[in-house]
Amino acid sequence: MSGTGTTAPLTCAVVAQKGGVGKTTALLGIAGAAWERGLRTLVVDLDPQANATAALDPASTAYSTNDVLADARPGVAADAVVASGWGEGIELIPSERALEHRAVPEGRDSALRLRIALEGVIDRYDVVLVDCPPSLGELTRNALAAVRLALVVTEPSFFALPGAAAALEAVEVVRGSNNLVLRPAGVLVNRARPQTSEHAFRLAELRETYPDLLLPVTIPDRTALQQAQGACVPVQAWRSTGAHEASDAFDDLLDLLLDAAARTVADLGVAAALTSSLTSTGTDHR
Ligand SMILES: Nc1ncnc2c1ncn2[C@@H]1O[C@H](COP(=O)(O)OP(=O)(O)O)[C@@H](O)[C@H]1O
Ligand SMILES: [Mg+2]
Repeated sequence: MSGTGTTAPLTCAVVAQKGGVGKTTALLGIAGAAWERGLRTLVVDLDPQANATAALDPASTAYSTNDVLADARPGVAADAVVASGWGEGIELIPSERALEHRAVPEGRDSALRLRIALEGVIDRYDVVLVDCPPSLGELTRNALAAVRLALVVTEPSFFALPGAAAALEAVEVVRGSNNLVLRPAGVLVNRARPQTSEHAFRLAELRETYPDLLLPVTIPDRTALQQAQGACVPVQAWRSTGAHEASDAFDDLLDLLLDAAARTVADLGVAAALTSSLTSTGTDHR
């Protein structure tokens, strides 16, 4: 399948309060599923650790998300887009360590900088994925203001429930303050090992608390994911049983996200009408 350009793109930020839970792994897996389907995909790396940038292995970079957020003129993100090393169709706005400087609010509409910079850029793609740092601060708020879906990633551990709750709350705050069309795409459990009792317990706990948000797809714990990342290729291009199992999960996950994106487009008419009535009545946006 290739993009028709007739539907709104899937735009999704991958978020979590913690590091090491699998945000970047999930993002790369979804990007790989999109790569396999020939979907035009843009990855925006908003983590100063730049792990997604490293795994996507661009041949050269001129500007980074740090430059994009510093400038923040409408559409300026286009200048920072580079080809990834994954081949045709997967493009990247890379990150760099200096992005740390943008992690604190700066001036009015600070959380809208990415959205403004991406104006007119998002529509060139079928899929736009934003990788977030391990915090729910200013950079993640910028990501959430620029997309329609937020994918919350967690491991089935003791911290899963409070971590998911904090991330979902951050989504609601951004939705309420500056992005009415934002929706949680769901809670994704990574490194699932349902045969162990601790994981089964934590999964059940998440299911009970978030019956509608806990996604039916989980990402298995597979060394192939680390191997593919180290080799800077999509896991879909890696040849092993574990890679196939992970790829199947990401394919199902991409289907879920595309469905969720289609539903947000249906909601969009209502939200857009609401936003324009708010602005036309001179509502105070402070
Ligand atoms: N499902 C998985 N199976 C095996 N290794 C994984 C899996 N998910 C993540 N990892 C590994 O765990 C580490 C942290 O994952 P990462 O995606 O970088 O987390 P985050 O982006 O949330 O900080 C990485 O080395 C990654 O390769
Ligand atoms: Mg990461």
